[in-house]
Amino acid sequence: MITFKNVSKTFAEETTAVKNLHFHVEKGEFFALIGPSGCGKTTSLKMINRLVEPTEGTVHMEGKDIRDFNRQELRWNIGYVLQQIGLFPTMTVAENIAVVPEMKKWGKRETGKRIDELLEMVGLDPKTFRNRNPDELSGGEQQRVGVVRALAADPDILLMDEPFSALDPISREHLQNDIATLQERIKKTIVFVTHDIEEAFKLADRICLLKDGEALQTGTPRDLQHAPVNDFVKSFVGNRKPDLWETPVSEVMETDSKHMTRETTLHAPSYPAPLYVFGDERRFLGRLEPSGTVSHELLISPERPLREVVSAVEASEYDAVPVVENEQLVGILSYKNIVAYLYNQRAETGALP
Ligand SMILES: Nc1ncnc2c1ncn2[C@@H]1O[C@H](COP(=O)(O)OP(=O)(O)O)[C@@H](O)[C@H]1O
Ligand SMILES: [Mg+2]
Repeated sequence: MITFKNVSKTFAEETTAVKNLHFHVEKGEFFALIGPSGCGKTTSLKMINRLVEPTEGTVHMEGKDIRDFNRQELRWNIGYVLQQIGLFPTMTVAENIAVVPEMKKWGKRETGKRIDELLEMVGLDPKTFRNRNPDELSGGEQQRVGVVRALAADPDILLMDEPFSALDPISREHLQNDIATLQERIKKTIVFVTHDIEEAFKLADRICLLKDGEALQTGTPRDLQHAPVNDFVKSFVGNRKPDLWETPVSEVMETDSKHMTRETTLHAPSYPAPLYVFGDERRFLGRLEPSGTVSHELLISPERPLREVVSAVEASEYDAVPVVENEQLVGILSYKNIVAYLYNQRAETGALP
């Protein structure tokens, strides 16, 4: 969706704000740019909607150089949320939200419907809030309107520059939770700037850590935590307790289990239940029953985090479930594995799930 290729930005010869930046943001991804103050986060973000032009390199959107887009259309398709909110003070909430839809010449009724729908989506009752002025809202409410305004004309991309950092901790946490829930529904491509590692870990699918204008590491929160490329990344990520529920199933499952067997070895008069059967090249065949091998519906993929599979295991009538990838039986996940994993990790790291 968004690709930075060797992007550098030098201001007035002296300051190189961004050096040779390289990254790709997938469609629907929540991508965080993080790093200490002055490391080039805002400059990078502004190069996406062309508020800043790179000195070197190119930024592509859906494979097309953003310089080849009409600047106006490019901005209409990119929502932008700033730290210092920036609602128009003399306009009502509804008028603030309607700005881009009106520029795009949406009809009054369509715009009105959209305003109500969006306000409801962020928990602001339209009847109460539509006609208020910004100074009649709390900081948290204003920033909710800021987010809604950016989403008004249904852009594909949302840029957010430290949107919650001016809020008190409680409002900040509420808005973080709201944006996480909202993103599950709307699946925008979000580039989110923050200096707060907790916030990045909570919200982002992937993180790009910048220092002095350079990207030190780009990866999932887990990558940065488990395989930091250098001491700076390590110390920036800090002594966060690992979230054990984020562990992929592949690290918890058993690859050699009494609950799995190769088809040709089935001669035993009795066997542990459940018993999952695989054929050539570990192709998953199903569950063994006295009547023969029957299909088994609940398959778990090895990349899924524990958080997502625990309830599936719990709902299953079997104490062990097959882990299947590309139709191959790659392992077995049982309650015993999960408990043993959590217990051992707790002993090693002191982290409790
Ligand atoms: N318009 C500008 N003119 C000159 N220098 C700038 C300008 N904008 C940003 N800078 C400099 O570029 C560097 C990166 O700034 P910025 O992208 O705002 O960092 P961040 O958002 O990570 O705090 C800083 O040294 C800043 O002073
Ligand atoms: Mg900034």
